[in-house]
Amino acid sequence: MKVRKVVLPVAGLGTRFLPASKCVPKEMFPIVDKPVAQWLVEECCACGIEEVIFVTAQGKNALEDHFDSASELMHLLDSKGKTDLFEQMRSLENLVRVTAVRQKHPLGLGHAVWCAKDAVGNEPFAVILGDELVLSEKPAIGQLISAAERLGGSAIAVDEVPADKTNRYGIVDGEPVEPGILQLRRLVEKPRPVDAPSRMAITGRYVLPPEVFDILEKTKAGQGGEIQLTDALNELASRHESPMFSVVLEGRRLDAGAPLGLLKTALHYALADARYREDVLETMKELLERENKA
Ligand code: G1P
Repeated sequence: MKVRKVVLPVAGLGTRFLPASKCVPKEMFPIVDKPVAQWLVEECCACGIEEVIFVTAQGKNALEDHFDSASELMHLLDSKGKTDLFEQMRSLENLVRVTAVRQKHPLGLGHAVWCAKDAVGNEPFAVILGDELVLSEKPAIGQLISAAERLGGSAIAVDEVPADKTNRYGIVDGEPVEPGILQLRRLVEKPRPVDAPSRMAITGRYVLPPEVFDILEKTKAGQGGEIQLTDALNELASRHESPMFSVVLEGRRLDAGAPLGLLKTALHYALADARYREDVLETMKELLERENKA
């Protein structure tokens, strides 16, 4: 069955970004001229996704507003003859169907995904975590959906991390079936390096079957006292009902979920954009020269 819906959990408090994230959701911080959330939604549109479901919380209204129509702004752009901007804003409104559900209590990522149960219904769906952008020719979530369809199971994006960083990620364990692809038997949330079954870390993109919702409903709080998506996926893998694969995606993975990462992500995106590339290179050169002189 075709993957039509993507769940984007954005209810987190964004503490790594305080004070910047006090009133503005971190998913609204700009990478060049678009907020992180728009890059993610455009990634979804580029592979035929029909609906993006934000899982939000109090103080996150800006996200829904961003994809809504803004009649005053449209009127103003129209009356001033700013045709290009008018068209850009119009296509933003019409990108894709954007809906939102609320996570009323911050009980963890597993709980956030579970909150989208009714909105998703009884069909496979994708999940994208808002911290990570992938600069790639083929949209990252499209790569994962194709892999899931081809392999006939669920698929989880992973990447190798240094041995001392396993405690920051969900870590997978499985049998190699193809280059870059494991069939999974176990997933562990943020294990200490000595307990980690591998160095393959979950990087925030998933293609999952609807059965995961019933498992999430019964999943107890785990690592950090939170209901973990990784624990529900571990349970799903152990049932052997349908295979689960980890997939290393093509492209440059960038963590936009903390200040330095956002800065680096913005640089990568600006360098990939012909409108800014030369200026950015010039500024980098100037900075380097100044550093070398000091
Ligand atoms: C979440 C997941 C974890 C995954 C990570 C990727 O953790 O629980 O399995 O590896 O995202 O960014 P968080 O970073 O929200 O603590």
